[in-house]
This record gives sequence, structure tokens and C-alpha cells, in this order.
Amino acid sequence: MSFKVQPQAPAVPNRCQLFGPGSRPAIFEKMASSAADVINLDLEDSVSPSDKDNARKNVIEAINDIDWGTKTLSVRINGLDTPYWYRDVVDVLEKAGDRIDRFMIPKVGNAGDIYAVDALASAVEMAKGRSKKVGFEVIIETAAGLAHVEEIAAASPRMQAMSLGAADYAASMGMQTTGIGGTQENYYMLTPDGQKHWGDPWVMPITAIVAACRTHGLLPVDGPFGDFSDDQGFMAQARRSATLGMVGKWAIHPKQVALANEVFTPSEAQITEAREILAAMEEAEKTGQGAAVYKGRLVDLASIRQAEVIVKQSEMIAG
Ligand code: COA
Ligand code: MG
Repeated sequence: MSFKVQPQAPAVPNRCQLFGPGSRPAIFEKMASSAADVINLDLEDSVSPSDKDNARKNVIEAINDIDWGTKTLSVRINGLDTPYWYRDVVDVLEKAGDRIDRFMIPKVGNAGDIYAVDALASAVEMAKGRSKKVGFEVIIETAAGLAHVEEIAAASPRMQAMSLGAADYAASMGMQTTGIGGTQENYYMLTPDGQKHWGDPWVMPITAIVAACRTHGLLPVDGPFGDFSDDQGFMAQARRSATLGMVGKWAIHPKQVALANEVFTPSEAQITEAREILAAMEEAEKTGQGAAVYKGRLVDLASIRQAEVIVKQSEMIAG
């Protein structure tokens, strides 16, 4: 470990973030009664320009009036290149109560973007005497966002989570794709006998986000999977993200919530194996050994840290 110890990410469950357009208040109660850990009320790209003011009013009412239980409640504001974002921040913080937990800032490009929203949010909070400071989560979904991902992660103590936004990311990078996340049919290697071997075009941004988040104590989250009729595709993408260190994934349709919860909740088998590895290492340590054999394979001090990730995650979710 470096002299600078890796900070812990916020200890809140974040397996699924369910989105809904701020312009569609009829689904807000359904979102509140869903099994998602996080609710994202959207003022950005699922709301048409002519509906922005109405959506903002709906969202403020919903923050104040709906019982969101123990969920993390987040509002996705508009991007800093639009005329809408400042009013999103000002109106929500002036008119909504303390139930709001986070603003989600889309299309962030550098630490200065976070600084700008932080300054505005701080001014409104001071003016209104708000004691609870709103947290921030961001979407990495542009070339600049990826290039500056670490300074963005470190930009403010308000920062809590970072998501990959696959569709805008692909557009900004000039990628030849149209689907939102998942397998891309032109991204393959040929095996020696001419079979297509599919690659994962998202592995690099996911890994960059996970590294920035783990370095600065944030939650790394996989963003949307657009084809909500393709459960297998969603699960495959979610499992890859979980394997690479992400803690959750967005749902853009309620049917994706259970899928995300399944992937990002450690299974009984995973927990049992992790506990057995910890027990095997405890036995080894008693006899002064730093390594042991578990089911025919080597386990050592690094295995303890791997197993602890799973055990701690399951305890945090259960608690
Ligand atoms: N949250 C909670 N409930 C939702 C929902 C959501 N995001 N989207 C749909 N529902 C409800 C519907 O109201 C319907 O309820 P009912 O059975 O009581 O009538 C049920 O789930 C089935 O909905 P369905 O008919 O399959 O979908 P739809 O055509 O109404 O809506 C979408 C489909 C994709 C337009 C909608 O899910 C949506 O707006 N998703 C979020 C988009 C978004 O926020 N994008 C920004 C982030 S990328
Ligand atoms: Mg986007």
C-alpha cells in the first residue's frame, strides 16, 4: 500500500440506480416503491427543452411530497453547456427540502465543472441555511471526461459516485456504434479458424472510472443498457462491470432493477467461499504461515483482502 491509504467509498448500497424523466410524474410513486437503492429523477436528456420548467417543478414537488423510504435520492441536472443547469441547482436547493441526497452532473469534462456547481450549490445552501450539504455524482460520458477522470474524482468533498454513460461517451469519442452499452457487432477479433471472438469496447473507460473512484473514495457505477428487452445482454454487461470493480448499474426500465440487484448483491456461494478463505488464512496464520491451500489453490494475504471486499459488501447491503 502507498503511504496514502485508499479511502473508503460511502457505505451506502448502490446496486441499482433507477431513472425516470422529471416530465413523467405518474411514475414517481412506482419508482419510490421499486427495489432500487438509488432513484435518479431526470431533468436532462429524457426531458424535452420545452418541458424543462415543468419537469423541474414536478421534481421539486416529488422530493417534498413522496415517501422515498431509505433510498438515496438524486436529481440529474442539465449539462453546463445548457441554459438550464443553474436554475436546476438554484430552484431545487431553494424549494426542495432536505430529502434530496445528490445532484448528478452529466457530461463533466474537468474539475472546473464540479467547482462551478459546488460554488453555486454552496451559495444557495448558505443563503437558505441548509445544514445538509447536497452530494454530487457525475457521469463520465465525453472524451474530456475520460481524459480528466482523476481530477474530476478529486474535485470536491461532495463527490460520491461516478457513472459511465455509454451512449454519450460513444458519440463524443466518435465511435461507430448506435446501441447503448453492451456487445458491439463490429468489435471482434478473428480466431485462427476464422470464428468471431467478441471483445469488450467498454473495458477501458470502466477500468479508468474504477481506478479514479477507488483512489478518491467514490462509488464506481455502470450506466445505462438501452435494450431493455435483452435481459441476457444486460446481465452480461453488469457481470463484466462487477468483475472489474463497479458496485452497481443504472436501470432505465423497472424490469432491469431486479437484474442489477442480482448481479451486484454477492451470492450465498460467493459469501461462503470468501468466509472459508478467511477461515483458512486464520488457521494458516496460527501456524505462522502467510499462505495456505484452499480447494487446491494458493491463498495468501492478498486473498484476505479480496475475500473481505465480498464479505464487507454483503454486510453493508444486509445492514
Ligand atoms: N420507473 C418506474 N416505473 C416505470 C418506469 C420507470 N422508469 N418506466 C415505466 N414504468 C412503469 C410504467 O408506468 C408501467 O406501469 P404500469 O404497469 O403500472 O402501467 C410499467 O412500468 C411498464 O412500463 P412499459 O409500458 O414497459 O414502459 P413505458 O413504455 O411506459 O416506458 C420508457 C418505457 C423507456 C420510456 C421508460 O421506462 C422511461 O422513461 N425510462 C427512463 C428513461 C430515462 O430516465 N432516461 C434517462 C437516463 S438514460
Ligand atoms: Mg448522457
